[in-house]
Amino acid sequence: MCGIVGYIGTKNSLPILIEGLKRLEYRGYDSAGVAIINSKECKVIKTKGKVSELEKLVSAHPVESHLGIGHTRWATHGEPNTINAHPHFNKEKTLFLIHNGIIENYLSLKKGLLKEGYEFISETDTEVLTHLIDHYLKLKNSLFQAVRYALNEVEGTYGIAVIYKNEPDKIVVAKKGSPLVIGLGENENFVASDVNALITHTKQVIYLEDGEIAEIHKDSYTTKTISDETIIKEIFHVDVGIDDITKGGYPHFMLKEIMDQPESIYNSMRGRLVYDEGISKLGGLQGFEDRIINSKRIIISACGTSWHAALVGEYMIEQYAGIPVEVEYASEMRYRNPIISKEDTVIFISQSGETADTLAAMKEAKKKGALCLGICNVVGSSIARESDAGVYIHAGPEIGVASTKAFTSQIVVLVLITLMLARKRNLSLPDGQDIIKHMQKLNEKVAEILKQNEYIKDIAEKYADSKNFLYLGRGYHFPVALEGALKLKEISYIHAEGYPAAEMKHGPIALIDNNMPVVFIATKDSVYEKVVSNIQEVRARKGRILAIVNEGDTQIESMVDHVIKIPKSHNILNPILSVIPLQLIAYHIAVKKGLNVDQPRNLAKSVTVE
Ligand code: F6R
Repeated sequence: MCGIVGYIGTKNSLPILIEGLKRLEYRGYDSAGVAIINSKECKVIKTKGKVSELEKLVSAHPVESHLGIGHTRWATHGEPNTINAHPHFNKEKTLFLIHNGIIENYLSLKKGLLKEGYEFISETDTEVLTHLIDHYLKLKNSLFQAVRYALNEVEGTYGIAVIYKNEPDKIVVAKKGSPLVIGLGENENFVASDVNALITHTKQVIYLEDGEIAEIHKDSYTTKTISDETIIKEIFHVDVGIDDITKGGYPHFMLKEIMDQPESIYNSMRGRLVYDEGISKLGGLQGFEDRIINSKRIIISACGTSWHAALVGEYMIEQYAGIPVEVEYASEMRYRNPIISKEDTVIFISQSGETADTLAAMKEAKKKGALCLGICNVVGSSIARESDAGVYIHAGPEIGVASTKAFTSQIVVLVLITLMLARKRNLSLPDGQDIIKHMQKLNEKVAEILKQNEYIKDIAEKYADSKNFLYLGRGYHFPVALEGALKLKEISYIHAEGYPAAEMKHGPIALIDNNMPVVFIATKDSVYEKVVSNIQEVRARKGRILAIVNEGDTQIESMVDHVIKIPKSHNILNPILSVIPLQLIAYHIAVKKGLNVDQPRNLAKSVTVE
């Protein structure tokens, strides 16, 4: 959460900072600010609200400077207002700091600083860190050393960038638990919390690791550990283009990303299927296959939408590879001392690769000796770097806060892993080839569903005034029901719950009346007839029913209010198809309600705090 950007070079920094903040706004958008330093003055401009508000203020006070930092905030400590917005500064307004993360011991640090006479104007943990650095600046007379000493006292997580009037030739940055990237240019350098803010300027980047600190000048940089040892960092080339991070003519990123899915799904499997052998080849797992196959147990851990993908993974790995699988919320796993052994493989799924809970759960599993694999979208992200091995989903940047194309690509990768494991266990060659044949047709089928966008919009709008929704599915469609409900609640603010359809009679059926829309995912699979019975139960109680069914299904059509038809596929691929109408339903309801689809209230794209 929170977006960080910084510039040092020969150009005017403010337009670069504002452009970078706009690209990072999906990470947090309750307030924003910039600080710049030039030979005459230091200036900080902050405001509650979005980067567009900040931009208006900045345009009203144009100032030339070649050094600056900017921040877009997702509030943790203190409400989202202008005072709590970053950058924070010292009393003299000569030292400026932006921060992503949480300083856990900020209260005890604050106590010490209060005793020394420091005064605080905000409610934030970040202001405490600013004054702590100020305290060490007075003792050490070096920004780099002051930041280093201060961070040695800090418990918690941070990605920070600091500038100081008396050392106007540098930005000091440091990382622990929150991402930080340095972008290398010609006579200019950049910092950011993710590469999207940099790619219009440079593709050469350095990823800081936890416990590292860097001093960045316009034409050089030094990287050290927090204990002051020099380290040499590898320079990476990032392969993200401007088209990947713009709306491409769509009104919202979310719709663009839903529409991207024929391509993103194809990209997730491209070059990874070997039809003749009925297997998948995953370069990122090379050398680890036997250890995974011989695992006593696989645990899949994730948060939110990625956790729903994990549930789909559990069903398919158990069914086809016959390895016991458990799925665990990363936020629970990290604190409950789970039983994990060296014989286990733990798969962590994360679109961003930066989710704090998932990263912490991975560190815990690593300590216990398990093989830790990452399934990530963002290349070079912390989970991708810190796992023992892994697979990128290659869905392309996902900017809309509600995850869509990452979910379908995560399932594709889980199918690839299942295929790899199952063929080495007991899946026959023809059965493996059958899955591959269906996978190869998946992008066409997704495109077919997307062609129904206008039809789905018409249906969705009929339900836009509902106050509650139930989503029901069985088997592979139970996680899809959870995902459909999550999509709706996060962007339309309508209360929605996902349930296994058969669980309805154990409680939720009491909710059914003619005001309760129920979305059934009811494709022709092994539990089809059971779902038909569940539909009858809702119908008998006058619930409004919208069903996702297979093309050619007339039985359910005659029983429900609306149907959306999707093509038939292999059962493990069905969730990829059935979730797409649910993504569109959520999208169109939110648009109809006039809500900010890409930046829903209280949320942020990358949850780098716990
Ligand atoms: C929902 C959504 C979130 C994320 C969750 C995990 O649409 O986007 O629930 O899935 O915050 O994020 P990642 O996958 O980046 O670890």
